[in-house]
Amino acid sequence: MRLIATSEANLGSTLGKAIYNDNGQILLNKGAALTAGIIARLIGFGIDYIYIEDPDTADIISANPVSEELRVAAYNTIQTTFQQLEGNFNVSPAIVLENSAKEFKLLIRSLIKELTGSKELLNLLSDIIIHDNYIFTHSLNVTLYTLAIGLEMKLSERDLEVLGVGAMLHDVGKMNIPHEVLMKPGRLTEDEFKVIQEHAEKGFEILRNVEGLPLLAAHCAFQHHERLDGTGYPRGLKGQEIHLFGRILGVADVFDAVTSNRVYRAAMLPHEGLEVLYAGYGTKYDSHVIDAFKRAVVIYPAGLSVELNNGCSGVVSSQHKGSNGRPVVRILQENGRRVQPYELDLRQHASILITGCDATAMGKNEQ
Ligand SMILES: [Fe+2]
Repeated sequence: MRLIATSEANLGSTLGKAIYNDNGQILLNKGAALTAGIIARLIGFGIDYIYIEDPDTADIISANPVSEELRVAAYNTIQTTFQQLEGNFNVSPAIVLENSAKEFKLLIRSLIKELTGSKELLNLLSDIIIHDNYIFTHSLNVTLYTLAIGLEMKLSERDLEVLGVGAMLHDVGKMNIPHEVLMKPGRLTEDEFKVIQEHAEKGFEILRNVEGLPLLAAHCAFQHHERLDGTGYPRGLKGQEIHLFGRILGVADVFDAVTSNRVYRAAMLPHEGLEVLYAGYGTKYDSHVIDAFKRAVVIYPAGLSVELNNGCSGVVSSQHKGSNGRPVVRILQENGRRVQPYELDLRQHASILITGCDATAMGKNEQ
């Protein structure tokens, strides 16, 4: 299958992978023919990229180390807990969270287990799930990225558990920000921006009062918007003043924010999200954390069309764990002319570089 921008899908193309809702139900089956109505609806749902079936790439599959079952379970726990926090004025947030704390820990343990046991790299483009609430999806994605970084940095199991719970709850302080401010498509006023910024400290205040939750997990909420150069908030901490967990969360949070579809702009592809991090390499974001992140996640997802500096172009067919910036590419064209498809392992050809990734031009010149 191939990954394409939904807006570029041709009418009658066949969907290569099912699309789910957050309860794990299939909304659109693999093999469905895309109509103008379906394409418009997917775009309306914020699905910027889809997989389509294609004869040249029929055997290419995009795998994910974390099972769909576990992700749905984690999403549902986050959703239930956050909704209880939002709609409950009689019970203190600390009590609600105390009740969920055990469940959170169990989930984190299962996520760690699946991430450790898998040969696959973390690839969030692998499954396409329609979520109707950004905070829940974001909390889950950030948790997965955070754990993947933590594992790569060889943190202890105990540290990973604290970090994972902190990641799941890092934006908990946003639950009482008015929806209109949180989802505002235009520029925020200074006052609105202040209200949003308060979520870090509010989250800390909520979490530090939860019995059974380590204080360090509360600091994850407090510090995830701090930046090494002191330009972050709420306290403008610098360098090592920011706890390692805060530095890890900063990277995971920004990457997910830019690669997710938001009301004010379209999603970036993973390699573009990584460029955003590199713009702050060692200045805003911890360079060791970015290095670990780069090793742990898929940069060029299977199915992505790429152009190479030797005049060839094709589709990413598989990844190497450990050198995921050098995937195997199925070459389909040489200097614009179609050739008999063959695999080119970029790990074995150091001089060949990926010069472009294009989710928009794919398939166009062949139809
Ligand atoms: Fe945040």
